[in-house]
Amino acid sequence: MGRIPDQFIDDLLARTDIVEVIESRVPLKRAGREFQARCPFHDERSPSFTVSPTKQFYHCFGCGAHGTAISFLMNYDRLEFLDAIEDLARRVGMEVPRDTRARNEDDQTRELYDVLDRAAGFFRQQLRGSQRARDYLRQRGLDESMVERYAIGYAPDGWEGLKSALGTDGQAIHRLDAAGLLSKNDGGRVYDKFRDRLMFPIHDRRGRVIAFGGRVIDNDDSPKYLNSPETRLFHKGRELYGLWQVKQAHAKIPRLIVVEGYMDVVALAQFGVDTAVATLGTATTPDHAELLFRNAADVYFCFDGDKAGRKAAWRAVESVMPRMRDGRQAFFLFLPEGDDPDTLVRREGEAGFDQRLQAAMPLSQFFFEQMADGIRLDTLDGRARLAERCKPMLAQIPDGAFRDLMQQRLGELSGVSANVASAAAAPKPSRSAPSNPRRGAAPKRSLVRSVVALLLQQPSLAADLSEPHGFASLQLPGVPLLMEMLELLAARPGLTTGAVLEHFAARDEGSALNKLAVLNLPGDVDMWREELADAIRQLEQQTVAQRLDELRAAQAAGQLDEAMKAELRDLLARRAG
Ligand code: UTP
Ligand code: MN
Repeated sequence: MGRIPDQFIDDLLARTDIVEVIESRVPLKRAGREFQARCPFHDERSPSFTVSPTKQFYHCFGCGAHGTAISFLMNYDRLEFLDAIEDLARRVGMEVPRDTRARNEDDQTRELYDVLDRAAGFFRQQLRGSQRARDYLRQRGLDESMVERYAIGYAPDGWEGLKSALGTDGQAIHRLDAAGLLSKNDGGRVYDKFRDRLMFPIHDRRGRVIAFGGRVIDNDDSPKYLNSPETRLFHKGRELYGLWQVKQAHAKIPRLIVVEGYMDVVALAQFGVDTAVATLGTATTPDHAELLFRNAADVYFCFDGDKAGRKAAWRAVESVMPRMRDGRQAFFLFLPEGDDPDTLVRREGEAGFDQRLQAAMPLSQFFFEQMADGIRLDTLDGRARLAERCKPMLAQIPDGAFRDLMQQRLGELSGVSANVASAAAAPKPSRSAPSNPRRGAAPKRSLVRSVVALLLQQPSLAADLSEPHGFASLQLPGVPLLMEMLELLAARPGLTTGAVLEHFAARDEGSALNKLAVLNLPGDVDMWREELADAIRQLEQQTVAQRLDELRAAQAAGQLDEAMKAELRDLLARRAG
C-alpha cells in the first residue's frame, strides 16, 4: 500500500483524458458539453451516466457512482488503487515513482498491523489471567468457543498494562499511539486508552486486526463501549464487526443480519445465528450498504422498536435504496421493547429468532409506511403529498423490476399514475443537446443481445466470423462485451458455454450472460448459423450508418479533411452498391 506523491497523481490526471479512458470501455455519446452512456455500474435502460471532459469526472444520476479516471478504472476494471495508477501511467508514458517515502509508508503500515496484532494477543493473554474478566463473561453467558471465534480479550485495569508490555521504547510507544491504543492527559502523560474493559478486536476483510471495541466490566464506568479512534487503518463507517468471522464460516453467505452491538453479534453466533454483523456505533452508511450487498443478496436490519430505532432504520433505507438492484432484498426487524438480539436469542433460541426474521418487514413496506406517516391518504392533497415525497427516493433505485414495482405501489397508494413518478425518476433528457437519432434504439440493443445469445448457445459458431470485425467500433451497449467474447473464442475455440460463463462470472455482466445462456433457442445449429450471419450483417450496416452520421456531422461543422471526404464518398458508394 505504497503512497504515490499527490503531485504525481495531479500530473497523471492532467495528462489523462477521462473521456478516452471511459470511451474505450463504455460507448459514450455526446450530449451537449458532456458525454452520456447507460451506466456501466448499474443496470438501466436510459443513459444517466455522464462524463464531463471539462471537469474530468463521471457521474451517474441513477446510482450515484462517480469519480475520476482512477476510480473509474478501479471500479470498472476492478483494480486496486496502485494498479489503476500504473495502468493510467502506462497509457501516457509516465513512470510511477516508488520513492523512499512510499517505501517508508509501506513499512509503517506493516508495523501498525503488527502492533495491533500483538495488542490483541496481549489482551487475550490478560483475559486468561483475569478472574474478574472471566467472571464477567460467565455472567453474560459467553461460551469459550465464542471467546475463541471472536478473539475476545481483556484490557487490564491500571494505566500502563499494554504500554509497558509493548511500548518498550520511544518508537514502540509512537506505534501504539498511531494504532489508537494510547491516550494522553493534559500534562502530556501517555497511558493505556483501554482499561478494565472486555476487548473485541475488529478485523478487516483479510482478517487483520485494525481496531478494538472495549466494553466496561463495571457498569458504573462510562462510556459503556469505547471504540478505537479512526486511524490510518480504521474507518468505522466502512467496517462491519463480525463480517470476517461470517466469511470464514460461509463460502457463500446466505443472508446477513445487521445488529447494533458487539454482544449481539457474539450471542447470535453462540445460539446458531452465525451471519450477524454490527455497525460500529454509527448509522448504516452507504459504504456499509455496499459492503453488505457485495457479500449477500439478502440483508436483514435489526433495530429497536422505539422512535430512535425507526430513525436509525430510516438511515439504513437511505443508504440501501440506491443499491437495490434486482435480486437484492432488504428487510427490517423491529425488536420488542426492552430487547436486543442478545436477550432475544437467549430467550427464544435460534428457531425463535429465525421466525422473527422470516416475519421481518420488507423494505417496500417500511418505506411506504414511513413516507405515509402523518399524511392523510383519504384526501387528495395528502395523496399528492405522498407522491411528491416518494419521488426523489424512488428515483434513486436502479432501473429494474424493483423500481417498477415500487412505482406501481406508489400509484396504488396515491392514485397518481406511476408514470408521473417514472418521468421524474428518469434522468433529465440530454439538456440542450440536439436530438440524437440513435437514442432509445431498443431493437438495436436486442440485436447485440441476440448475437451474444447465439454465441452462448453454440460457442463454436464464432469460428464462422471473420476478423477484423467491422462492427467493433459500433457504439452500442454490449458491443465491447461481444468483442471480448469473440476474442476469447478466437483464442480458445474449444470453450463450452459453461467455460465462457465462468470466464465472465466475476463481472457485472455475469448474471445477464447467465440468463441468456439459459435460453433454449428454437431451431438447430444451421439455423443459428444463418441467424448469426444475418445479425452480424445488420450490425455492420449499423456501423456504416454510424460512421456516416459522424462524417456528416463533421461535414456540417466544416471539419472534414481530405481523408474523411474520401471515406464519406466511399461509404456512400458502398451503401448505394
Ligand atoms: P447498547 O448500549 O445497545 O449496548 O449499544 P449492547 O450492545 O446491548 O451491549 P451490552 O449488551 O450492554 O453489553 C449498542 C452498540 O452501540 C455502540 C457499541 O457498538 C454497542 O455495541 N456503543 C454503545 C458505543 O459505541 N458506545 C457506547 O457508549 C454505547
Ligand atoms: Mn445488549
